[in-house]
Amino acid sequence: MSGASDAGISIRNADAQEPNGGAKTPTLTERFASVADFIQIPTPPAWVEWAVQNQSMLLWDHGNCEKKAASSALSLMFRYPEHNSLVHRMSRLAREELRHFEQVQKLIEQRAYAYEMVPAARYAGGLRSCVRSQEPQRLIDMLIVGAYIEARSCERFAALVPHLDDVLAKFYRGLMESEARHFQDYLALAAEYAPPEELITRIEEIGREEARLIGAPAESFAFHSGPPA
Ligand SMILES: [Fe+2]
Ligand SMILES: [Fe+2]
Repeated sequence: MSGASDAGISIRNADAQEPNGGAKTPTLTERFASVADFIQIPTPPAWVEWAVQNQSMLLWDHGNCEKKAASSALSLMFRYPEHNSLVHRMSRLAREELRHFEQVQKLIEQRAYAYEMVPAARYAGGLRSCVRSQEPQRLIDMLIVGAYIEARSCERFAALVPHLDDVLAKFYRGLMESEARHFQDYLALAAEYAPPEELITRIEEIGREEARLIGAPAESFAFHSGPPA
């Protein structure tokens, strides 16, 4: 997760003034130095066991998640074409997520895993329900949700690696670094549009819902599901 700790992003937005004689302004990387600092609970060990027992389902749903990550990035580009840095970062991110999808798809083909439909997970929908409808709050919340999905994916890859065969473990180790970088990309963008106090408050609020979704027992397995009910 080396990419998570070196961005040095200021938590202040571009227009904010340094308070006279005030305490040193915290940076996002000081407050959320790593994925582990950002997410509020770790993945339950029972989910990891569930995933290891359902590797075909794991890969099918992981592929879905990569497609959705690319699609979300494209949606932001369509919705906010006037925000240059967002458009550039999201364009690169969408291409990278589609490459991840192609890698997952190749593994599925190599392993001859028959298609398995993964029931719609409540995770992304639950997080989206936190997003406020007015701008610029909507954009800020969407970026925080993006950061949480990337951070959780990174944490889940790390939790799975010790339990997987060499090929899948190597692949997931590589993805951990990409998703940690994406987590920081979303945070850096959020810091461009949100005053620092609002950003931290919203990160903590959305983080509470994220933790609830990850900890709540689930009827069916998914990449972002809770542990088995
Ligand atoms: Fe990805
Ligand atoms: Fe990602």
